[in-house]
Order: sequence, then C-alpha cells, then structure tokens
Amino acid sequence: MNKDKIFKGKTVAILSGGGDTPAINSSIENIRNRALILGFKVYGIRQGWKGLLGEGDMVDLTNQPYNGIYGGTALCSSRTNPFPSEKNPEDRVPQIIENLKRYKIDVLITIGGDDTNGAAKRLYERCGIPVIGFPKTIDNDLRTRTMHYYQGKAIEAVLCPGYPSAAKRVSEMARHLRSTNESHQRIMVLEVMGRDAGWLTGSAIFGGAELALVPEYEMTSERKERFFEQVKLLYKEKKNLVIAVSEGVRWWDDNAQQLGMVYASSEKDEYGHPRFGGISGVIASEITNRLGISARSQISGYYPRSGYCCEYDRLLTSTLADKVLDLLIREDYGKMPVMTKIVPIDQLEEYNTDTIDMGSIGNRPLQNAYYNTDEFTFTDVYVDFLKNILGNPYLPEFGYKFEKVNPDLL
Ligand code: F6P
Repeated sequence: MNKDKIFKGKTVAILSGGGDTPAINSSIENIRNRALILGFKVYGIRQGWKGLLGEGDMVDLTNQPYNGIYGGTALCSSRTNPFPSEKNPEDRVPQIIENLKRYKIDVLITIGGDDTNGAAKRLYERCGIPVIGFPKTIDNDLRTRTMHYYQGKAIEAVLCPGYPSAAKRVSEMARHLRSTNESHQRIMVLEVMGRDAGWLTGSAIFGGAELALVPEYEMTSERKERFFEQVKLLYKEKKNLVIAVSEGVRWWDDNAQQLGMVYASSEKDEYGHPRFGGISGVIASEITNRLGISARSQISGYYPRSGYCCEYDRLLTSTLADKVLDLLIREDYGKMPVMTKIVPIDQLEEYNTDTIDMGSIGNRPLQNAYYNTDEFTFTDVYVDFLKNILGNPYLPEFGYKFEKVNPDLL
C-alpha cells in the first residue's frame, strides 16, 4: 500500500499580520494540524509580510509542539504592507514573490483583517499566488457574511476569530468597574478599541454598561446635547453609570466647532491608519464640567487583545480550519473560510461554514438593527447576537439594602 500523503513534498506557509488577537495561535495550530494531515510541510513566516522581505524570516512548524490556547501570535506580527503606500512608496511585491520561490512555498495562508487579507487578495489576483485567507480581528469588522437570525429576521453580522475572546474581556471589565463606580457614585467612561466599528464596544453593554458610543454614528453638536440629557436622566435614576466609547468615535469639538477624533499618535502606519486613544478622557471631563457629576475615564487598551484564547474562539478556529483543509484538498485559492450563521458554541460545526471569495472581503460596520441611536445604547438584537457567543449575561449585584438609622427614634 502506498502510504504517501497526497501533498507530500509540498509546503504551506502561514503568516499573521496586523493587530494580534487571543485566537491567532489557535488559528495557526489548527491550520497547521490540518495541513499536516494532508502531508504538507508547514512553515511559519515571522512578522507578517515582513518575513517575506529581504532574506526572508521563516520557521519550520512541521512537527513541533504548538500551544494554541496561549494568546497572541508566536509568529509575531507587523503592519507591513507589500504594496506601495504613503509611508513606504516602495513596491515590495517582487521581493515577496522571490522569497516564495526561494523557500519553495506552494500555498500561502494569511491570518489577518482587511489590511493583511486585502494585500493577499491583490497578490492572488495580480500575481496568481495561491493564497487562502483566514479571518482575524478583535474589532470584528472584516466582512464574513455571517447571518444572524433573530425573531424571524435575517441580519448580516460578522464573526471573526479573536472577537469572542476580546468581547469576553470587555464585558468582564464593564462588569467589574461597577463596584468601584457604585462606591464613588461615579460615571466611568470605558474606552474600547475599534477604529471604524463598534462591535467590540457593544460587549460592554453585555457587561452591564448603560450607554455606548460607536464610530458608525457621529456625535454631532445636536446629538451630543441629547447624549448629555440622557446621561443626566440615567444618572439621576441609578447614581452611577458605565459609558462605553469606541476609540474612533467622531465627537463634536465645541472649541473647534467641528467633529474630531482623539489620536494617541497621528503618525500613520503602512495601511494609512493613525493610532487612536484618549476620547474617554475628553468625554469624562465634559461630563464633569457640564453636569457637575464626578466622572473618570478608563482605557481598556490592549487588555482585551491579551491573554488566553476563549473556548468559543478555540472551536471557531478549529471549525474554520476544517474549511481550510477542504480548500487545500481542492486546491481552491483566493478564498476565506467563514461561518454562515451566528450559532452557540455547540453548533460550531462544519455544516455551518462556507467560504467567500477574497475579492469580496472588506470592512463591515455595525448594522442599524444593533444600535439604538436615540438612546445611545445597543439593542436587544445585539445582546442576542452576543448571547450566542458568550452565553447568558452575568450581572451580579450587592443585593442588600440597609435601613437608615434615625437618631430621633432611638
Ligand atoms: O487590529 C485593530 C486594532 O485592534 C484597532 O482596534 C486598534 O486601533 C489597533 O489595532 C491598535 O493597534 P496597534 O497599536 O497594535 O498598532
């Protein structure tokens, strides 16, 4: 009997690009394991596209141990763009093609968001490089055409590995902030990553935050007035609030009389993105100045992106890797595996997956069904979406009400 596997002698190389997530190592491990089953040799390209420049930077993952539960990416990442950009006008595609040849790579698998997979798509379309994309982003804004069925309606949602683990952390953070807030009868403005989309910010609502501001809906002067009214009203009733804000919120600047964003650094990366950070501080101080209520800001920053891969992400990456195996067997390139519908963990199975043409990937912001623009919060539809991923919300309360002592009655 011939025991040779069908792809013996061929090589798959995996890279991860852009911001890391807790689910990248899990994606690498699962893809690597599927490729090994088919007989491929598996390389890891270090630091995203950067590992295909110059001499190349490659490691052999073939029969090595790999811990997919550990967060981040053991291959490291970068925001290197192979194509000319404002920051780097050099076209580095020839170097990439040269290295793919030199290292004898037959199939390239790119774990990334819109930037990394967008570049992979161009390499596939323009240069015919056999590429398979794999979704990744805590922002959850890479279009996956995953449908969410809610009360008989079908809504186009998004489901990218990395988002479930990050959403878990953001919701926990909102939940934990409650006790310090209650103790000081404060408002806490919790800033969450998300340049262009508020999917991750919504998970704070799942953790009990009362209000949320997202990049999809600009905070014009008029909307800002209504927002402060809403804050006043809710604070009167609850005596403490958690307000989640996406880092990329467009906020009306009273002095400049225009909408603006708050940058940590205006220097752009090779995909043209500046770095956001600090909007929560602006909003907290405006709340204090306008309403006279004590408010603080808390930037969740890199915390949601850090740490171990949650169980949902673990299974999600495994299921999507099954689809990669399918693509590898059929030598069907220029595709990315996706979930067809939002399902609870026990239904993350092969029959709920599909592939989409990498030509149709792109950014997917929040749908109107998920956000209540009048009340500055997320809707029950969004809570249902996240329930599939995180289970039922857990919102503990102190639970006791003490009677006030009246000295006149003693
Ligand atoms: O990968 C996307 C993201 O998580 C954005 O939400 C955020 O703006 C960005 O990464 C920050 O990444 P870094 O500071 O690591 O470049």
